[in-house]
Amino acid sequence: MDLTREEEAILNGESGEGMQKAMELVTALGKIYGAEDLIDITSAHLSGASYKTIGDGGLKYLEDMAAGGARVSVPSTLNPVGMDRDRWREMHITPEFAEKQLRIIDLYGQMGVQKTCSCTPYTGANVPSFGDHVAWAESSALSFVNSYIGARTNREGGPGALAAAILGKTANYGLHLDEKRRPTKVIEADIDGSVFSYSLLGQAVGMAMGSGIPYFKGISPELEEAKTLSAAMAAAGSVALWHAEGVTPEAGSFDVSDLEVIHIGKRELEAAYDKLNTVDDVQLIALGCPHLTEKEMHQIASFLKGKRKVRDDVEIWFCTSEEVRARCPEDVKVMEEFGPVLADTCMVVAPIEGAFQRTGTNSAKAGNYLPTLCSQKAMVRDVSALLEVVM
Ligand code: F3S
Repeated sequence: MDLTREEEAILNGESGEGMQKAMELVTALGKIYGAEDLIDITSAHLSGASYKTIGDGGLKYLEDMAAGGARVSVPSTLNPVGMDRDRWREMHITPEFAEKQLRIIDLYGQMGVQKTCSCTPYTGANVPSFGDHVAWAESSALSFVNSYIGARTNREGGPGALAAAILGKTANYGLHLDEKRRPTKVIEADIDGSVFSYSLLGQAVGMAMGSGIPYFKGISPELEEAKTLSAAMAAAGSVALWHAEGVTPEAGSFDVSDLEVIHIGKRELEAAYDKLNTVDDVQLIALGCPHLTEKEMHQIASFLKGKRKVRDDVEIWFCTSEEVRARCPEDVKVMEEFGPVLADTCMVVAPIEGAFQRTGTNSAKAGNYLPTLCSQKAMVRDVSALLEVVM
């Protein structure tokens, strides 16, 4: 790789151990993926924030990085953590877990990372612009900013994104390059346009394509639908960038006339639904994957207003960011009659398997991960069908 004199000096340890480790990791990734050089980034979003997912090994890595003087050099946000900082007891979290989780958040803070912990930072805390090169982990968020905003990031892992954040640079390969952003298949989508239909569409596309870059015809997602679609395709497959005709900012730059066309309609959506649903009754209903936006908080509160929860054997969690929760006090009041509005955490990165075995969600992403990462049987329905379970 072509490194500048300054980058070589960092690699040789002249800027401290933290910077050196970061440069070693970024250049190693660059060599693996054939990058010719490094590129400046404007922001980072880091995963690897829950004690459940990183364990003691990850905690030790963060301790070492912080002790080595590592600090991020671009605005950097953090993914959801394993619990609400204040309401962890309501989530059946042990004090031992809570102590380690708080230490992880503190270490990221010492390195200069903003302590809002959300998978939708693009709604407020961290909003890239079109054409920005960024280093984002969190598969749903990076797909959203790549696709709906037109920023540029690869599917970074937690350590890679942290290293890039420290350097303010990442290796210049993959989705940072024009030619790697070309669509690979056309998807003709026939859906009803509800948010839930976008979840099933994402699941169906992930199942049909695996990886690659879909180019959609026939959809017009707004922010909520785009976040749901991004999350579902990233979990059911490994899609990190998609285009939608007439909607996403780069879609008009491609000629797709010679690409294979895949049709996704009723039959494919039913197959996606069947794949996700493995149980008919639940102990927990968890909404907010990816984190609820203000609009979704309003919609849920409007649906719940005047209704009553009659089943005490089912808990409901609403997951959003601290920022959004603070902006919707009236909605929060209504929702809290049904269950806690939890900030900066989610049903997948929290250790729910200690308390529950059957969980309901409206998210295809959570529907994929609840069985594999949380030992749950999953029920995946739209929001109103889920909430009616407890009424
Ligand atoms: Fe976010 Fe957790 Fe879903 S991190 S995308 S709410 S699995």
